[in-house]
Amino acid sequence: MGQAIDTVIPNLVLRALCASDAPALHRLVEDSAAHLTAHGDYGDLVAATLDDMVHALAGQANEPLCFGLIANDQLVGRLDLVPVDPPRYSIGYWLAEDATGRGYATAAILAACAYARDDLGASDIYAGVTHGNHKSAAALERAGFRKVETFEHYARFHLSLRT
Ligand SMILES: CC(C)(COP(=O)(O)OP(=O)(O)OC[C@H]1O[C@@H](n2cnc3c(N)ncnc32)[C@H](O)[C@@H]1OP(=O)(O)O)[C@@H](O)C(=O)NCCC(=O)NCCS
Repeated sequence: MGQAIDTVIPNLVLRALCASDAPALHRLVEDSAAHLTAHGDYGDLVAATLDDMVHALAGQANEPLCFGLIANDQLVGRLDLVPVDPPRYSIGYWLAEDATGRGYATAAILAACAYARDDLGASDIYAGVTHGNHKSAAALERAGFRKVETFEHYARFHLSLRT
């Protein structure tokens, strides 16, 4: 799928990531390291080398699962669909610090869930949110997710895609 996935925000699309995106992605992560790890998540992402990112992004399937959030032609974040137990998927996402506060995460989650339903045949999407990450919980709730379970360190959110 070379096509971009549109979102409800006109200048924001999701585009499948490939190995050639690794340098831009690596720079973005370096620049937003403190923001990304503020709730104790994404330590592995911040520690990843450029080579790690090249390898991780090489060879996506025809129906991609790793997307860049592209705003005004600039990479500003990433969203992943993870086939934990298909047709059940989980979702993960992050924005560069200076791309927050504009609805990009909410719009990207909505677009990714529609893609998961229509192109991947997904029935359910789950997300785990570390306690205290209110911005992430708010984005999920705006996209229609509901908190379904609470664990020691995180809460599980769920969206049913069945009509
Ligand atoms: C979680 C994260 C992606 C949320 O980012 P965010 O910018 O707060 O969320 P959105 O992009 O949906 O934007 C929502 C904000 O934009 C505002 N906004 C502006 N235009 C908007 C629009 N068209 N639609 C929705 N919200 C809009 C909202 O009012 C809200 O502002 P507020 O936080 O002051 O209430 C971001 O904080 C992040 O990258 N954190 C680090 C990584 C992380 O925790 N990832 C999630 C792990 S579970």
